[in-house]
Amino acid sequence: MVGGYERWDCEDIALSSSAPGHTDTASAKEEVSDLSPGSPVVPPVTGHSANLGILFQELPITIPPNIELIHQFCPESGPLLPPQSLQMASFQFVSFSATELLLASAIFCLVSWVVKTWQSRAPKGQKSPPGPWGWPLIGNVLTLGKNPHLALARLSQHYGDVLQIRIGCTPIVVLSGLDTIRQALVRQGDDFKGRPDLYTFTLVTDGQSMTFNPDSGPVWAARRRLAQNALNTFSIASDPASSSSCYLEEHVSKEAEALIGRMQELMASAGRFDPYSEVVRSVANVIGAMCFGQHFPQSSEEMLGLVMNSHEFVETASSGNPVDFFPILHYLPNPALQRFKEFNQRFLRFLQKTVQEHYRDFDKNSIQDITGALFKHSEKGSRVNGSVIPQEKIVNLVNDIFGAGFDTITTAISWSFMYLVTNPQIQRKIQKELDTVIGRARPPRLSDRPQLPYLEAFILETFRHSSFVPFTIPHSTTRDTTLNGFYIPKECCVFVNQWQVNHDQELWGDPFEFRPERFLAASGSAINKTLSEKVMLFGMGKRRCIGEVLAKWEIFLFLSILLQRLEFSLPPGVKVDLTPIYGLTMKHARCEHFQARLRFSIK
Ligand code: HEM
Repeated sequence: MVGGYERWDCEDIALSSSAPGHTDTASAKEEVSDLSPGSPVVPPVTGHSANLGILFQELPITIPPNIELIHQFCPESGPLLPPQSLQMASFQFVSFSATELLLASAIFCLVSWVVKTWQSRAPKGQKSPPGPWGWPLIGNVLTLGKNPHLALARLSQHYGDVLQIRIGCTPIVVLSGLDTIRQALVRQGDDFKGRPDLYTFTLVTDGQSMTFNPDSGPVWAARRRLAQNALNTFSIASDPASSSSCYLEEHVSKEAEALIGRMQELMASAGRFDPYSEVVRSVANVIGAMCFGQHFPQSSEEMLGLVMNSHEFVETASSGNPVDFFPILHYLPNPALQRFKEFNQRFLRFLQKTVQEHYRDFDKNSIQDITGALFKHSEKGSRVNGSVIPQEKIVNLVNDIFGAGFDTITTAISWSFMYLVTNPQIQRKIQKELDTVIGRARPPRLSDRPQLPYLEAFILETFRHSSFVPFTIPHSTTRDTTLNGFYIPKECCVFVNQWQVNHDQELWGDPFEFRPERFLAASGSAINKTLSEKVMLFGMGKRRCIGEVLAKWEIFLFLSILLQRLEFSLPPGVKVDLTPIYGLTMKHARCEHFQARLRFSIK
């Protein structure tokens, strides 16, 4: 039996770890252009908004048989109509012009809008959150534009920390400001722990995901606890059977060595490389080893094809995507949605195959990895309130863990590289710290972390400045509630703007500067813990990321090992583009011109 596994039934091991926390607010640079009710809103139609352009094309559209037309436009409007109207919706291939579809869409959305507005009206004596005027049918979708995190940060400067917009027929409450977000997600955590019922969620793990799923009841809570325990046991909990302090250290040390080797080979052959595609392999191997042990197909084409293309997932699974709010977009040509669907299917097939292969030699007396731990639990028949959690609901947790475990960490390391090559003086400072504290005779270990405050400050500043997870995954309210004096009804969709917290002028003074020193205490030899806890990237409260500690440790270890041995640079004249590309996680444009020079060789 593996040492750590004995703690399987313990409560959240990670919560007692010494990792620094995070959280807080921001203000955008640009002016709010469309704040007054009734003022015209004419932003450029790009990004998500471009999807709406499709609505206005004069295309003949064919409705497949047995599709309920009414529900395509506004699913919630069904009960408003007599049953005879619903019967009309079954057809044998009937063609409609786009004008007819638009008209029908308009009528149903208007009816739904009136009903929703009436339903979401605050009870007497209470007030709804303020917000900008929205167009009939489309609401404020055009205002969100290509970068909803920036648009909503601008609106928060005018309307405050709790504001309301509408996308299509759906009202959305947007939260900004560290204190307000903490009040909602922590102090009123039960009220705000839900997830909305979004179309894109139904496409992830065939609707069985723990993360992207409207369930926030006892089954979700039990699944989350199982996932957290399995993850901690096979990543950050100490492993007495190994010379490394934990599985994570063992896997990262091995993968970082291999990564250094690959980078050197690429330098010898091509004289340059794209760090993203190299890092994603190593990070996937680490989470793959923790999830599946030796069953993980390390360099299979299928696996690499998936992990190299996670942008196909994150570009669509982003807050405010019109496809979640305009059901008609499910049926119109939408290449990004198609890529998303195909990515999810390929991902599920790959993981199901790997899980099945693992099951063949599963031995409940020798649990070596997360999947094994989940098998064991599903065999025991986990129960919630007397009923058994279905086996596939337990095993599917590995999809949530593997999916979250490679994309986020790769994105973080990749942003770090961008900041290192654009700020060579910062890179030199980190290397000086590594040389002084660790020297060159041995590789860095997790236990060195408290002695390397400048590297830690650099990682925190990378999190804050890039804010590469701009919003948490959307939340929803589980009951009628009030926040900052504003009434928010049950099942209201809530966006939490992490980017705004990380760029709040009041909190950071110079939020757009990249300055790791801001996180150092006055002595310069420790982290300013209070400030570090204001960086918000992992959510907070009941839905807080379950991989936060693992992520911080893994990023630290990869960076310390790589930077001890290699110096990264760009050839003279090459510029990198640091503009974040909006998504669930925001990437930067890839750069194939990275160079790495060995700082010293190991005898
Ligand atoms: C730098 C790396 C990471 C960042 C920035 C990050 C960020 C986040 C954020 C913002 C959320 C949503 C919180 C909310 O909805 O309020 C989340 C949820 C989640 N994260 Fe992470 N994450 C990271 C790494 C990981 C890793 C390594 C794992 C697992 C191996 C993981 C597993 C999860 C899971 C399962 C959830 C869903 C929790 C739930 O819905 O209850 N994350 N993460």
